[in-house]
Amino acid sequence: MIRILHLSDPHFGAADPAIAARFLAQAAELAPDLTVLSGDLTMRARRRELIEARNFVERLPRPRLVIPGNHDIPALNQPFHRLFAPFKRYREVFGQELEPVHTAPGLHVVGMNSNKAFNPKLDWSLGHLSAENLRRADQRLSGAPGSFRVLVLHHPLIAPEGHKRDVVQPLAELQELIARHRVDLVLCGHFHCSHMAAIGPQGAWHCVVSQAATVCSTRLQGEPQGFHMIQVEGGLIEIERFVYGGENFELEKTFTFTRVEEGWESADTATRREEAKIA
Ligand SMILES: [Fe+2]
Ligand SMILES: [Fe+2]
Repeated sequence: MIRILHLSDPHFGAADPAIAARFLAQAAELAPDLTVLSGDLTMRARRRELIEARNFVERLPRPRLVIPGNHDIPALNQPFHRLFAPFKRYREVFGQELEPVHTAPGLHVVGMNSNKAFNPKLDWSLGHLSAENLRRADQRLSGAPGSFRVLVLHHPLIAPEGHKRDVVQPLAELQELIARHRVDLVLCGHFHCSHMAAIGPQGAWHCVVSQAATVCSTRLQGEPQGFHMIQVEGGLIEIERFVYGGENFELEKTFTFTRVEEGWESADTATRREEAKIA
């Protein structure tokens, strides 16, 4: 069995310290095989926020895979840093690698950096994968044949119903990469909304997507803080959604996916109906 703890968007600078401490205590008890943090560690990539984020990350269960989010680039009031050295401060604290890889027996996890300092639509929060991002992931996914394959990026693949915000682009190219390498699971954050589904073009490979809520920030989007605990065994993926109930994170719901010929399928009919709308 492989057990992955997925959390996202702690946003130090706007984090609730009591919730962060509670999460760390529960994470230690869960003792996962891998902890994945899918970006937005800070609010504005200020040094004190990055130091707080590092203190938090250093207390997460090992091994860990951490990627930046759009909030980990300095804001427009620091235009020089933003445009010419967007990841300088993040790298000073978390190391040079913005697209880390984790490989263990039976598991291959590849990070992608979907955050860009400049966007032609002048919406800095949008997620975009360059040809270089896609080429690098293509190369890195080619290793570890037979392993359970996971992609991690900050920006989501699925917009919740009625949600106005954009999904990562170019989505078709990303889905093509996912299908070519038979990626099993994609982990994202950014919307601060928990969402699970098996998605893919009709009749083609379907991967499971786990989009996590914010783990401990006060920037809520209509739902409490939460995280996902993912368990993989044979042809089964179970994702447990934990939500903060005021004192503890409590198990709210378990999502189950089964391996079929063309990837993964939700075992839950309500989730399948929702997936049909996405496709
Ligand atoms: Fe965020
Ligand atoms: Fe974000």
